[in-house]
Amino acid sequence: MTKIVNSWNDFDPLKRVIVGRADFSVIPPEEPATSEKVPIDSEMRGMWGPRPTETVEKANAQLDYLAKVCEDHGVIVDRPTPLQWNQPVITPDFRTDSMMTCMPPRDILLTIGNEIMASANSFRCRYFEYLAYWPLMKKYFDEDPEFKWTQAPRPRLTNASYKHNYYDEKISLEERLERTAAKDFVTTEAEPMWDAADVLRLGKDLFIQHGLTTNRTAMEWFKRYYPDLRVHAVNFPGDPYPIHIDATFVPLRPGLIINNPHRHLPEEQRKIFEANDWQIVDAAMPAHETPPPLCYSSVWLSMNCLVLDHKTVICEASEVHQMEQMDKLGMNVIPVPFRDAYPFGGALHCATADVYREGGCEDYFPNQVEDPTLV
Ligand code: GLY
Repeated sequence: MTKIVNSWNDFDPLKRVIVGRADFSVIPPEEPATSEKVPIDSEMRGMWGPRPTETVEKANAQLDYLAKVCEDHGVIVDRPTPLQWNQPVITPDFRTDSMMTCMPPRDILLTIGNEIMASANSFRCRYFEYLAYWPLMKKYFDEDPEFKWTQAPRPRLTNASYKHNYYDEKISLEERLERTAAKDFVTTEAEPMWDAADVLRLGKDLFIQHGLTTNRTAMEWFKRYYPDLRVHAVNFPGDPYPIHIDATFVPLRPGLIINNPHRHLPEEQRKIFEANDWQIVDAAMPAHETPPPLCYSSVWLSMNCLVLDHKTVICEASEVHQMEQMDKLGMNVIPVPFRDAYPFGGALHCATADVYREGGCEDYFPNQVEDPTLV
């Protein structure tokens, strides 16, 4: 019997992975959820349409190289089947004029044990992105009799799913930080909405970021869907655009997490890590002052690394401070150039989705702690 799908965390030995592709990528038009993702001073505000071909080619070259490095380290690499993303998305509830990309499978696919679930994304432009992964899911389904192929409840994404006029040109960075600290996000609680990259898997415990792309109703849904796992809501008040946990709170091995020093986990939420002897250390400063052009993400993609096993990590090749810190933390670092791929959906963790990591569902947090701030 072939076992193809199994993964419970981000650090056990990686044996099979999906690496995204940048083909046909589009900068999508603004919509209620995405106007929040593009910082007010970004050159991308108001801009949409297919990304320039030469940038797609450069991104694909770096994605191909990442795939090769993984293969050289004994990892089987699968790739999605890109769609022509420059097509409108039309449902009974909304219309938006284009889709986006399949560069970051991490946003769409959540692997928990022998199950891969396509997420319930809040961006309308991402409504059909899962289709790029369906050929792979069918293959795993055919070849692995234990594989559970799942789709989370599809959100309707009507106007009721978003706060209107949440985005306001006049809002200052301080006001934005006050809002995110108060857990006031663009998504409402009308239905479960979540991106897979907001879910940090640590065996029996899921730490899910409450932010612009994932709401509390999703966490309640996770609790009911996975009754054997423990779901914890986390939030990071220092992040003005809290989207995805993997440039903020990144585990390197059992007992060790690097945390973005500008986005500390609040005191109350640290208690469960302290009670179980986990170390949370500040990540190194990024090597760059700005992200590359036409990039959605921040310079903190510096810490968005791909852990191959408890001692080996792939880091972006120019992130000298992060690589030095990894070395001090006892990790062997494999540098991979990736900044040309950043604008298409993030760094090395974003660009990959786990299929198989050797290991089971460990209990890393036997001492559970109630967090009154999250009730
Ligand atoms: N949310 C990813 C970033 O920090 O840019």
